[in-house]
Amino acid sequence: MSTSPKPTPPLVLRHLAIVMDGNGRWAQKRHLPRFFGHKAGVDTLVKLIDACRARGIEHLTVYAFSSENWRRPEDEVSGLMGLVIVAVTKYLTKLARDGVRIVIIGDRETVSDRLKRAWNEAEELTRNNVGLTLSVAFNYGGRWDIVRACQRAVAAGLRPEQITEESLSRYLATVHAPDPDLLIRTGGEMRISNFLLWQLAYTEMVFSDCLWPDFNEAALDAAIASFAGRERRFGDVAPVSAR
Ligand code: IPE
Ligand code: IPE
Ligand code: MG
Repeated sequence: MSTSPKPTPPLVLRHLAIVMDGNGRWAQKRHLPRFFGHKAGVDTLVKLIDACRARGIEHLTVYAFSSENWRRPEDEVSGLMGLVIVAVTKYLTKLARDGVRIVIIGDRETVSDRLKRAWNEAEELTRNNVGLTLSVAFNYGGRWDIVRACQRAVAAGLRPEQITEESLSRYLATVHAPDPDLLIRTGGEMRISNFLLWQLAYTEMVFSDCLWPDFNEAALDAAIASFAGRERRFGDVAPVSAR
């Protein structure tokens, strides 16, 4: 008796993660200071949030400032911090109205009080929204996240044998979201740069040469089409729709 192969389950894209890279080069190509690339990058992000909402994506997690980005020249770092305040002022009302829930993942201890207030305001205002969850990785590092999860688990009194993959993941900054299904990195580099090290274990990846400010709906759809053609096996022999 011949057995027909089981149909491949359709892939569901619940959680998209993006490394928004290439802002500086985008500006340099236009003989502009790097800051202008970051500024254009914020506008691109706001457009992409709309595109993700329209495509039914539940979680969008974006890498905005890494633990290592403090190594940049002081004026670029302070420009980026200032840009957050400007972006929150400019776009928070729109995002809140669109049902977006904003969550900041990253180390808030070492940023200025002004920035803390801006992040708190964004989270407070959108706390009860049930549309897309936008997690902004700011002053975030995957290693920081894992170390902090261990510290929190120990502080909560977990005994060594109680530390499991499942229990530890409850102390990660991404506790509110499933692991990303798809990671897009723009800007041409093929590396993780200390983004969601734990959470990306089985994430599909798309690397694009497009510089982040140029990224648009067509580029998003191309990445989604690539994702849709993948077979996710999670270590099994046959494709599995999601884990
Ligand atoms: C990514 O763009 C944004 C941040 C890291 C804040 P870059 O600033 O890294 O842009 P390139 O990679 O230098 O072009
Ligand atoms: C990764 O980009 C961080 C963000 C996009 C926020 P980087 O430009 O900092 O990464 P590297 O230094 O090229 O690896
Ligand atoms: Mg870069």
